[in-house]
Amino acid sequence: MRALVIGAGGVGSAIANIASRKSFITKLVIADYDASKAHAVTQKIQDPRFTSVEVDAGDLAALEGLIRKVNPDVVVNAVDPRFVMNIFNAAKNVGVNYMDMALSLSIAHPTDPFNKVGVKLGDDQFAQHDQWLSQGNFALIGIGIEPGMSDIFARYAQDYLFSEIDAVTILDGSSLTVDGYEFAPSFSIWTTIEECLNPPLIWNEGWHTTTPFTGGVTFDFPEGIGPVECVDVEHEEVALIPQKIKAKKVAFKYGLGNDFIEKLKTIHALGLSNKQKVNYHGMEIAPRDFLASLLPDPATIGPVMHGKTCAGAHVAGLNKEGKPYACYIYNVVDNDWSMKNYGDQAVVWQTAINPVMAMELIANGTWKPAGVVGPEWLEPKPFLDLIESYGSSWHIRDEDPAGIGL
Ligand SMILES: NC(=O)c1ccc[n+]([C@@H]2O[C@H](COP(=O)([O-])OP(=O)(O)OC[C@H]3O[C@@H](n4cnc5c(N)ncnc54)[C@H](O)[C@@H]3O)[C@@H](O)[C@H]2O)c1
Repeated sequence: MRALVIGAGGVGSAIANIASRKSFITKLVIADYDASKAHAVTQKIQDPRFTSVEVDAGDLAALEGLIRKVNPDVVVNAVDPRFVMNIFNAAKNVGVNYMDMALSLSIAHPTDPFNKVGVKLGDDQFAQHDQWLSQGNFALIGIGIEPGMSDIFARYAQDYLFSEIDAVTILDGSSLTVDGYEFAPSFSIWTTIEECLNPPLIWNEGWHTTTPFTGGVTFDFPEGIGPVECVDVEHEEVALIPQKIKAKKVAFKYGLGNDFIEKLKTIHALGLSNKQKVNYHGMEIAPRDFLASLLPDPATIGPVMHGKTCAGAHVAGLNKEGKPYACYIYNVVDNDWSMKNYGDQAVVWQTAINPVMAMELIANGTWKPAGVVGPEWLEPKPFLDLIESYGSSWHIRDEDPAGIGL
């Protein structure tokens, strides 16, 4: 398997790091518009199969040129989601397979954004399904941890545990703290702001939206993380899961905690979340990019980070015997463990193993994606069976069949 990874940030560098331990990877080129970041990755890995290169994901022709030159089996997009369509289109134009961990962006409903759906996450990608299919290529979209492993948990629940599903709630919570910083998002700052401030997407026998930071529940996360206040957030799983899993309700709830929510609200109120460029004394800069430049780089905070991160799917309905049943299927990563064993912080490591496991299953012919597909389109068991060989684990915790009061 020859891979071209675009984006040498937290997740991209962890993908390269994990892939370097796998013999099915025959060649991996890592690219970034900051060539020094891509170079630092190959310097750390010191493996002749791995090389680095500079590319601007905003330049379609440059992307196509690079893909032709590298001639990979798959392009893995690890840049923030505003470049999804460019990288996705470049791969399609050259006729190469594609993976990402964040879907094409949503556009809020023009007149009623907090009730009605405009353009959903991933809509622009799914619109090209037939073209990808007829070309004989795949685009496996949203194959990180959330979306990604969380969607695979939901598919496993449908196939192996439930006869009827009332609700799938993806719940993400952590006990992570970062020494010396009052505000330090653990992955792409651009994406964190985007997903938390957009109108949250909800599936309730049809898609609709709601107001940010609503739908709060306190969920008791496993493995010592404990209770965390979670709120509805716009996330890919809510666009993906209802397409393949028969559930009455699907939601994504993010354990942001009150302090983080208040800071995001202030950032928004001050206009610092704005992703459009403004002119400052002749200089063009987007306030969100400026803010990201002031905050600690998520890729480098691992040594001062502590605690565990948990991602999972809470599923409630009827079990295979027709009795009320609920469970939380989850994956936990301890930052001390990921730092000690890989030198990558927990959130990016937990994300990065998923595209590498998908590459392994595709390389050995177990998974045969075709066209534009999400993780829940594919057989879940081989993926779940592979997790332990990557040093991680997944678990099923029985829950109150009454659900979590959604
Ligand atoms: N599915 C999941 O579970 C999950 C979890 C975390 C992150 N993600 C996604 O993974 C992606 C990467 O996240 P991250 O935390 O590594 O972000 P990051 O900000 O650490 O890294 C992004 C990298 O992209 C590079 N970049 C930015 N603009 C570029 C351009 N025009 N051309 C080339 N390179 C450019 C940056 O230099 C940086 O190295 C994001 O899309 C994020 O939403 C998904």
